[in-house]
Amino acid sequence: MPQQRAGGRTRPVEFAPRIEELLSRHLGSHLFRLEPDTIGVAGPDLMDRLLACRPANAAERPTFKPVQGRLVSRADASTYMQAVGSDVRAALQRPQDAAVDLTGRWPHAAHTYLRDLVFGDESLRFRVLVDRRLELTPKITWSAVASGAAFLGKPRNDAPLSKLASLVLDSTSYADRRYAMYLYRRVAAPVCFTVSALVTNALWLGAPFGDGVPNRNIILEALRLLPPSWNILRVASPEFPAVDERIGPGDDILLLPLLSHRDPGLWDEPGEFLPERWDGLDGDRHPGYLPFGPASERCWGRHMVLPLAERLLDIVRRDGLVVSPDQTRARVELDGLLEVSEVRMVRP
Ligand code: HEM
Repeated sequence: MPQQRAGGRTRPVEFAPRIEELLSRHLGSHLFRLEPDTIGVAGPDLMDRLLACRPANAAERPTFKPVQGRLVSRADASTYMQAVGSDVRAALQRPQDAAVDLTGRWPHAAHTYLRDLVFGDESLRFRVLVDRRLELTPKITWSAVASGAAFLGKPRNDAPLSKLASLVLDSTSYADRRYAMYLYRRVAAPVCFTVSALVTNALWLGAPFGDGVPNRNIILEALRLLPPSWNILRVASPEFPAVDERIGPGDDILLLPLLSHRDPGLWDEPGEFLPERWDGLDGDRHPGYLPFGPASERCWGRHMVLPLAERLLDIVRRDGLVVSPDQTRARVELDGLLEVSEVRMVRP
């Protein structure tokens, strides 16, 4: 959908045909049939009520769904999140590196920077788990995990060890180590993938940003127009028809922040990238704004995402990087994460 604004600040995005169709057919609708067995939902009250009526089940949880059939306990989930949180905090305490160069193809350049910032001291065996190539097929992830778990030895005493890697090395059996490495990948990879997607989207939509514009507003606005987690799936369950009788007992529901974030009934100039709108709005409470999921079960990683995204924006703004003037088009594919697939950043 074109989003060109008169002043030319909001760059247009070419969406994959299915997303384009979703936007053109359903923008402004609160509930609609998407597939014979799936209802799309984008009304703010309805989304809140449906998400609050039952917690996500094990298979619906993006990060802690079962690992090779083994359920991830809440205690394990929280241990791993605390470990990665502590590794991210330690990385952010290091001063900004003047030599860092973020020119080149994004999100790749950002991904590599984040990987080196947070997991750079890790042995290759671990670093490979946050590699972008592992996204290609779950089989590749699986083989990296399996071979890593089989050959892992304790590092030399002086080798730096992240909190996350210690969790893996502390496990005793091969099965536990493999499970731990899978969880390592589950929590470490989003740090690189989601944050690089978010900032790439922001740069394409609105860079260069005015000096007075806070990073926080840029991030909130990029999460609105191009939310990396653009849909939230809940499989059919008896609570849903009780909330709205248009939902049948066999219907899955797909909640669509992508649509509610652009609903003309909820936003002024919904298609425009206007970071300044957040001067007067609250990102935790604005109706229909749920880039990090429902209030009842909001993303556990968001406190890491924001400072990491700000760190990337600080470097881009410090170095005065701009989107290459030769690039006039950008694609958003139909993928797990909603991200502009390539943005070329250059020094002017
Ligand atoms: C731009 C960055 C991110 C966005 C937009 C995002 C978005 C979301 C959304 C929408 C949910 C709710 C999903 C649902 O209810 O079905 C969620 C849940 C969650 N997120 Fe994030 N997330 C981001 C980054 C991260 C990172 C970096 C981590 C971990 C290091 C993380 C860990 C989690 C966890 C643990 C949950 C709870 C549900 C589960 O077990 O998977 N997120 N996130």
